Amino acid sequence: MAGRDAAAPRLPYIDHLLGGLGRGNSVLERSFGEHIHWGYWPDPAAARPDSVEDFKDAANRLSLELLDLAAITPGMRVLDAGCGFGGTLARLEERLPGLDLVGLNIDARQLRRAAGLAAARPGRAPAFVAADACALPFADASFDRVLAVECIFHFPSRAAFLAEVRRVLKPGGVLVLSDFVPAAIWLGPAWMLRWRAIERLNLFGSCDVTCSAAGYRRLAERSGLRMTTMRDISRHTLPTYAFLRHLLDQRKVRDRGHRVAQAGLGLMDFVGRHGLLRYSLARFDRS
Ligand SMILES: C[S@@+](CC[C@H](N)C(=O)[O-])C[C@H]1O[C@@H](n2cnc3c(N)ncnc32)[C@H](O)[C@@H]1O
Repeated sequence: MAGRDAAAPRLPYIDHLLGGLGRGNSVLERSFGEHIHWGYWPDPAAARPDSVEDFKDAANRLSLELLDLAAITPGMRVLDAGCGFGGTLARLEERLPGLDLVGLNIDARQLRRAAGLAAARPGRAPAFVAADACALPFADASFDRVLAVECIFHFPSRAAFLAEVRRVLKPGGVLVLSDFVPAAIWLGPAWMLRWRAIERLNLFGSCDVTCSAAGYRRLAERSGLRMTTMRDISRHTLPTYAFLRHLLDQRKVRDRGHRVAQAGLGLMDFVGRHGLLRYSLARFDRS
């Protein structure tokens, strides 16, 4: 596996994932081979945390929830910013074949995999572009829809990203995203999670989960977008943690990294379950 580009942020979980996929790990291939995001279970009580197929279905379902919110119609041009391995675009191409799709990511290694997967599928392959989502290399008013699935917390600046989205969206265009949105009471601890010492321990790298719903509304207004939906779907995503903890326990190694990762997942499960950090879907309209 070639190394990460200097411009790409250090995201240990992505390195682990690419390493495992490169070694032909079939469990990773089936669970995170297409999507690098949490799952959505319409009925969380029916989730099976030890089933890779159940998680795979739930990860697909999350993409479909975002696509429903985006209300994409034939003939549209759609950008998926922070597209990972292109799984959401794959579901979109299956749903509405022949759209003009673009996937963008800061990490060229992920884009190479995304392009390989797309070439092996029937249908029109997206164009894949390596760039920072906060400096989009596209003309003004050139997209009908922008998607950002579970990635905005890694971007250097939400304000810069929203301003760029506003610029590249056509009038009437729409942005949909998913993010971990803190309740007001969790804002202080969420800021502490950004301390360098904590980030160094963190499997997920640098994550800014300090933008509340009110913060999003303000940022959107400043960038000329209107927030029209903010939907807390935490309840439907919680089985992800049991699945990930089960996956980690399949590894024979019980080192410090294992303990830190388990503790991190336990914390995320707790704050999600208690409404402190809300996995949310948001939609922003450009008037
Ligand atoms: C949790 S993954 C989600 C990937 C994909 N959206 C999905 O749902 O499968 C976060 C993604 O954000 C990407 N990313 C991080 N910083 C970025 C940036 N500044 N510009 C573009 N992509 C970025 C990472 O490389 C990674 O692919």
